[in-house]
Order: sequence, then structure tokens, then C-alpha cells
Amino acid sequence: MDNFSFYSPTYFAFGKDSENQAGQLVKRFGGSKVLLHFGGGSVIRTGLLDRVKKSLEAEGIAYIELGGVKPNPRSGLVYQGIEICRKENVDFVLAVGGGSTIDSSKAIAAGTIYDGDFWDFYMGKRIEKALPVGTVLTISAAGSEGSPDSVITKEDGMFKRGASGDAIRPKFSILNPALTQTLPPYQTACGVTDIMAHLYERYLTNTKEVEVTDRLIEALLLTMKKEGARAVAEPDNYEARANVMWAGMMAHNNSCGVGRSQDWNSHNIEHELSALYDCAHGAGLAMTMPAVFRYVVKHDVMRFAQVATRVWGCQMNFADPEKTALEGIDRLQQFLISIGMPSKFADIGAKEEDIPKLVDVLCNGDGRTGSISGFVTLNEEDCTKIYQMMV
Ligand code: NZQ
Ligand code: ZN
Repeated sequence: MDNFSFYSPTYFAFGKDSENQAGQLVKRFGGSKVLLHFGGGSVIRTGLLDRVKKSLEAEGIAYIELGGVKPNPRSGLVYQGIEICRKENVDFVLAVGGGSTIDSSKAIAAGTIYDGDFWDFYMGKRIEKALPVGTVLTISAAGSEGSPDSVITKEDGMFKRGASGDAIRPKFSILNPALTQTLPPYQTACGVTDIMAHLYERYLTNTKEVEVTDRLIEALLLTMKKEGARAVAEPDNYEARANVMWAGMMAHNNSCGVGRSQDWNSHNIEHELSALYDCAHGAGLAMTMPAVFRYVVKHDVMRFAQVATRVWGCQMNFADPEKTALEGIDRLQQFLISIGMPSKFADIGAKEEDIPKLVDVLCNGDGRTGSISGFVTLNEEDCTKIYQMMV
């Protein structure tokens, strides 16, 4: 196991009606004037935004609303949010929505008190300071409610890139599983896929002797197999939603990723798909994960065989462990298809002729020098072959 430090000070309020604590929690974490940030309207339609506003009003907390965050959030709205926060002396950013709204909120929170262009953070500068951020989560997926990360797409060039720093870890996150019951099955399945990807990206490690985190990841993958499928099939099942919601947080606050190298190639290869075709992040991952895993399986056959036997119920083939490894990848893909996820380029409107463009931005965009690194370093030729496997 590698040395590590782990600091994850988010306060979680989990359960039914927990959104009514929003006002008290903003106050507890020092907010007096809030930017209330949300997406394309689901929180208005469900009445959630009104309940959150009431809770702020009950504590005498002023707020300014900024809606309109799109899935795969854009830089334009971030610049707008930064301007509002500066002009109105906002001291707290409250995200009400999914990962996109939370990530946009984090970018605004960091950009408001930074002298330069907020995009510097998405070019690799670590975020050291930000306004405090709180969240009221409406979809189990990105894990941004407990993570120090934010992913934004720069409209000029459609670069989708991530930024990081403990300063943008939410001060509090309100997790009411009932709020996710209004999600359509497809969006639920995209979330399930993303959560499983966050687990796999950590499972694929080059660090030896990491039994505790291996076992945590396997437990969460087994949970997602059962409860994820149940949440898709039974949208109103509170208990399934609750298990998925907490698994989604645990999958990405890095408690099961510490002390080990991680992969993230499936995510990087996906980000170009959602940047170019504006598909859901989870839908893209349902295609990139099986392709990347099959491509790199020989790098560590026993790691793939281990997850195949422990999570996917495969029988270990001692004479030919690669068969077991590949069977596990097949079962993962079959599971994703069974919950309604795409498996081919055409399913998300992606085109084979775009592959050179996807590869160029992936491997050379924004300061990269011809490759991406993770479990295995992949150059342009590798990435081209991986995209071709999805056609
Ligand atoms: O915009 P509204 O109207 O709210 O609708 C949203 C949106 O259309 C809808 N939705 C959310 N909650 C709902 C609901 N509809 C009905 N009922 C509800 N309760 O769902 C759609 C998707 O929302 P979005 O916020 O985009 O989903 P998600 O949480 O999957 O976030 C995706 C973004 O997170 C990034 C992804 O790249 C993508 O941009 N990621 C962020 C990470 C992080 N910060 O740590 C890590 C992830 O790997 C990921 O990259
Ligand atoms: Zn993800």
C-alpha cells in the first residue's frame, strides 16, 4: 500500500425530508448570502427548490438564484455566476441538483475569489481557496457531493476537463434518496454506470497488497449490481435508491481509492464523447469501460480475473485465467446493457469518421503530449484502436 493523506470533512445529512435542513446547515457553515444554483428545471417541477428557499428564509439567509446548468456543464454560466457572486458579495454557493450543478457551483466558488481566469484550475492549477459550497443532491451518479473534483466543458473548443482541491469539497451535502425517485430509468442507469466506473477506475491499480480497498470496492460493486438494477426496475423503491445513493458517495469520496494508484483512462476517453456528442457521462462510460478493459486485460490478467470471480460469479479457469478475466468484462457489459445502457457508437450518435478528432483532443488537447496515463499508458494509436472497438 502507498503512503497517503485523506481529509474528507463533508457533513452529510441523509434521509427523508433532509432538504429542510438546508437553511440551518448554510448558517452552521458560515453562509449569510447564498448563490442558489440549479439546472434545467427538474428542481422547480418537483417543488424542491421552493422547499430549499423556505428553509433559507426561515433562517433569515438571503439568496440569489442562478438556474440553467446543462448536463456536461459549460464555462459560460460559470463566468456569469462568478460575476454575480462578486457583485452581490455572495459568501456561500448552494447547489441544488446533480453532478453538473454541483460542479458548476464548485467552479464558481473557486473562481469568485481567484484573480485570474477560473479555467487555470482546469488546466492543472490546484484549487487552494474557494467560497464554501453546500449541496442538495437529486441524482446518484457523479459523486461530486463528497469529492474534491469538478468537471467543466470550455465552450471555446469543447474541452471537457477536471479540476481538484480540498477547498471545493462540499462543507455539507444533503442526501434524500426520495428526491431521486423522479429520475427516469435511463438517467438512473447512467448514474449506476458512473458509480460502477468510479469503482473500477480505482480497482485497476498497479499498487500491490491493497486488500482493504479491493474488498471495499468489491462490496460496493456487488451492491450496485443488486440495488442499481432494482432502482432502475422500481423507480419508487426508496430502499434501493438509498443504497445506491450512499454507494455513489462512497465510490467517489476516495475512501476506497487511498493508498493505491488509480486508472481513469475510461473516464478520459469518455469525456471526449460527452464533450463532442453531449451524451450522458454514464452512457459514454458504458461503452468506454468494456473497450478499455479488453484492450488492457493482458497488463494484469489476475486483477481482472479477481473481480470476475469475486463480483461477477465467474469460475476461475486456472489453466487460462485470461478467459476468466474476459468473461468478467463480458458480464459487466451484459449487465450495463440489461439496465438500458448503449454498447455501440451509433447508440449515442457518435461517428467513426470523428475518431481522429477525438484522439487528437484526448491525447494532445490542453497540454497533453501524445498520450494519457493510468493503469496503462495509452498513446494515440492505442486510443484510436479503443474507439474503433466501440464502432
Ligand atoms: O437539469 P435538470 O432539469 O435538473 O435535469 C437533470 C439533467 O437533465 C436530470 N435530473 C437530475 N436530478 C433529477 C433529474 N431529473 C428528474 N428528477 C431528478 N431528481 O438529470 C440530468 C442529468 O443531470 P446531471 O447533473 O448532468 O447528472 P450527473 O450527476 O450524472 O452529472 C454529470 C456530470 O458530472 C461529471 C460528468 O462528467 C458530467 O459532466 N462528473 C463529475 C465528477 C466529480 N465532480 O467528481 C466525477 C464524475 O466522474 C463525472 O465526470
Ligand atoms: Zn464519472
